Amino acid sequence: MSASTKNIPSPDLLKSIVALCKRRGFIYPGSEIYGGFANTYSFGPYGVELKKNVKDLWWKHFVHLREDMVGLDGPILLHPKAWKASGHLESFNDAMIDCKECKARFRADHLLSEALQRDVDHLTPEEMSALVQEEKVACPKCGAHHFTEARFFNLMFSTQMSKTGNEIAYLRPETAQAIFLDFKNVIDTMRVKPPFGIAQIGKAFRNEITPGNFIFRVIEFEQMEIEYFLRPEQWEKSFEEWLSAMWGWCRLIGLRKERLSEQEHPKEKLSHYSKRTVDLVYDFPFGTSELYGLAYRTDFDLTQHAQHSGQPLHYANPETKEHLVPHVIEPTFGVERTLLALLCDAYEEETLESGEKRTVLHLDPKIAPVKVALFPLMKKEPLVNEARSLLPHLQRLGLVEYDESGAIGKRYRRQDELGTPFCVTVDFETLEQGTVTLRDRDSMQQIRLPKEQLVAHLLEKLR
Ligand code: GAP
Repeated sequence: MSASTKNIPSPDLLKSIVALCKRRGFIYPGSEIYGGFANTYSFGPYGVELKKNVKDLWWKHFVHLREDMVGLDGPILLHPKAWKASGHLESFNDAMIDCKECKARFRADHLLSEALQRDVDHLTPEEMSALVQEEKVACPKCGAHHFTEARFFNLMFSTQMSKTGNEIAYLRPETAQAIFLDFKNVIDTMRVKPPFGIAQIGKAFRNEITPGNFIFRVIEFEQMEIEYFLRPEQWEKSFEEWLSAMWGWCRLIGLRKERLSEQEHPKEKLSHYSKRTVDLVYDFPFGTSELYGLAYRTDFDLTQHAQHSGQPLHYANPETKEHLVPHVIEPTFGVERTLLALLCDAYEEETLESGEKRTVLHLDPKIAPVKVALFPLMKKEPLVNEARSLLPHLQRLGLVEYDESGAIGKRYRRQDELGTPFCVTVDFETLEQGTVTLRDRDSMQQIRLPKEQLVAHLLEKLR
C-alpha cells in the first residue's frame, strides 16, 4: 500500500499507545512470562471490553438493524478441499526474501517499496529478485547487499488432523469462506432471497512474513465480514451503497474523517477473486495503510465451491423457477485495526491550565470499556454505603468501576486514561440533599444532579 504523508500522526504516538495499553490493562504482549511470542497479544480486562463493544455495535448496526442480513458463526477449520476451491492454496502468497548475512527475513515487496519509494507488489518474485540486484538494495538491518532469491510463501497456517494423521488442515485466513460453505444451508433454512447478506465475526490466521506495528499486522486476528449476495446487474450500485455504509460505520464509532480516505486497487494488484476492490485507509502513525476493504468477488467463490464439492450453489426463485448463482459484494473490517485506529484518534496528552498533565482517551461513550466510574469522596461510612447503593442501578449501563482508594484527583486521572466518559462522586451533599456530582471526561466539567435522575441522564448520553 502506498503511503501518503498527509495527516499522519507522529510515530511517537504508537509508542505512547503501546505503553498505555500495557500499563492500563488494554493489551499485553503474548506469552510474556516466556519472553514473549512474536506478534501475538492478549487483550486485557479493558481491551476485551473495548473489543466486545466494537463487535457488539457492529453486529447490532449491520445485522439487527437491517432486514436483509443474517448472522453465522462457522468453523475455523474447513474441509481442506475448500482452500483449493477458493484459490488460497495456490494464490494466497507473499514473496519473501532473506538477507544472507544477518538472516533477517523480509516481504520482498515491502523491502523494495521502502528502498525505491514506489509500489512493486504486482511484480513476480523473479522480477523482484532482479530489481533487488539492479538497484543494489541494502538490508535494512545490517546494510549488506547479499540476498536470497525472492520466493512465494503461502500465508495459511497448517495443522494435522489427529484422526487420519496425515491429512493437513488449514486455519482459515479469512472468515469469508465459512460463509460460502454454508450458503446452501442458509438458503434452505432461512427465508432469504437476493439481495441479502450473511455476516460473521471470528478469528482468522495468517503466517505473515513481516508482521508488526503493534496490533496492525498480527498472525491471529478477528474479522467482521459480510458476504452480500445479489444479482450480477446490481453489483455497481450495491458497491457504492456498501462503501457509504462503511463510511457510516466509521462515523458511528467516532473515527476522525480527516484521517480516512479511499484507495482503489489497480487492476494488476487485485486479489485472485476480485473484480474491484476499494480500501478504506487510515493515517496510522507509521503511514497510511488499509483499515477496511470492500471487494466485488463476482460469483467466483460460489462457482468454485459448487465445482469442487459437486453441490449446486444457487438461489432457486420459487416463482420464476430461475436458478441464480448470486454475485457477491464483500465489506470486510479488521477488529484489531479498528481498535488501533480508535486508540490513535482517542489518545491525547493535555496540559491543563494548572500546568498539570493528563493523558486521556477520548473514546466514543458507546464503545468506551468502562461506562461510569463511581466514587465515594472518601473511604468512610456512610459515604461508602451510599455510593455502593447506586452501583446496581448504574450497572444497567454497562461496566461500572467502583473505586474508593486514594485522592479523588488521582482517581479521575486513572479513569481519563481508560477513556471512561463519566465519573459519579458521592459526597456529603449527597447525604444531605440527595444529589451527586457527575464529571464529564472531555470537558472535565462537573454538574450536580439528583441521584434519581442519574441513570436516565446517563442512558441518554451513552446512546
Ligand atoms: N475476506 C477478505 C479479506 O480477508 P483482507 O484485506 O485480506 O481481505 C480483511 O483482510 C481485513 O482484515 C483487512 O482490511 C484488515 O482490517 C484485517 N487484516 C488482514 N490481515 C491482517 C493482519 N495480519 N493483522 C490484523 N488485521 C488484518
